[in-house]
Amino acid sequence: MSTTTDWAADFDILDPRYILDPASIWSQLRGVCPVAQTTRYGRTWMPVEYEVIAKIAHDVEHFSSRDIAVITPNRELDPTATIMLEAPPITSDPPVHTWARRLLLPAFGPSAIDAVTPVTRDVANGLIDGVIERGEADAASDYAQHVPVRVIAQMLGVPLDDEETFTRWAVVILQEGLTNINHAIGSVMELITYFGERAAERRAVPPGERPADLLTLLVEAEVDGEPLTDRHVIGSCFLLLLAGIDTTWSAIGSSLWHLAANPEDQARLRAEPELMTTAVEEFLRFYSPVTMARYVPEDIDFEGCPMRKGDKVLMTFPAGNRDPKMFEDADKFVIDRARNRHFAFGSGIHRCLGSNLARMELRVALEEWLRRVPTFELADPDAVVWTGGQVRGPRRLPVRW
Ligand code: HEM
Repeated sequence: MSTTTDWAADFDILDPRYILDPASIWSQLRGVCPVAQTTRYGRTWMPVEYEVIAKIAHDVEHFSSRDIAVITPNRELDPTATIMLEAPPITSDPPVHTWARRLLLPAFGPSAIDAVTPVTRDVANGLIDGVIERGEADAASDYAQHVPVRVIAQMLGVPLDDEETFTRWAVVILQEGLTNINHAIGSVMELITYFGERAAERRAVPPGERPADLLTLLVEAEVDGEPLTDRHVIGSCFLLLLAGIDTTWSAIGSSLWHLAANPEDQARLRAEPELMTTAVEEFLRFYSPVTMARYVPEDIDFEGCPMRKGDKVLMTFPAGNRDPKMFEDADKFVIDRARNRHFAFGSGIHRCLGSNLARMELRVALEEWLRRVPTFELADPDAVVWTGGQVRGPRRLPVRW
């Protein structure tokens, strides 16, 4: 159990107080130390101001994406420890990043997202069918959790029957694995075998007869006349599958938590559905789920901080989104906020490739829930469980109507 008393010099993002209410800690830090540090889990810096975070995100020369885990297990024992599995483009720097991202971009453009919008609506409605008569549900585990995984499984071209396995990988590798590498290793090995087999199966289908999905795109892609390595194909499948699962699950869950806990916003969104566009952006700003990290490849003095080779820097996008220098009433949720240049999806060359998909899923999940479920409230506020670290969101969310 964390006992930190000095958030500027010894912060701990796994401290239950940080997981529950990070915004009050960022606000406290902004006044005294806008780039906090810690040596827990290896030396790590945490900027909390929008401009500074954006500057780091754009400086790919001094801040590398070769390790984007907010905590790299065993780093305090072995400073060269790095993440277990490459996941291009998110773990690549230029020049690899440039082509690895470019080849995936069309699959996440507006027309591709239009094509999966009805699928998302069907998934949402199927889930609501399962709970509507009960008058209560866990909005996280009965609903939010299932929407993104079912949609991305279809886009990738992997069986929906494996949903539980995919969700388990997301939880074990991206959440529990931050502090327990041995626990995560088994899942990483399983995942490598799984996608190695799926890629081999797909290659065995004659070209021209392969389904138009992301797996086919990856096995058919060529760079400089050469196919991608298995390592690259598997790493990209890992990223595409897992990047969208607990992130969007968290965004949907936080938004439903907000609507359950703030009846006036729920009533307003029901009465004025045209507010959905600004509401979605405000949910993303206010409850930004994703914090990434960068690796410092060479010593650098940055904003007065003596950063040393091997240090990590948190890309605290959620903190930047609460910066009062950037947003008026930054700690207030404003459902019709007109000017909202949040960076919940990051900034610079790694800006989220799935942002169109994520926005659509969040919007559709909220629209269908509000359309079918009558006015709802938290069934037991004390039973709500939030998770934090790389991704923050509710994992238990009992609601009733
Ligand atoms: C609300 C949901 C989501 C949020 C808040 C989110 C947030 C982010 C952030 C902050 C980054 C930047 C990473 C960095 O700077 O290191 C990122 C990158 C990325 N995201 Fe998302 N994401 C979401 C959903 C998705 C979905 C549904 C997908 C679909 C597969 C996805 C795929 C990716 C990929 C592939 C990258 C890496 C892009 C690159 O390195 O060029 N994300 N995301």
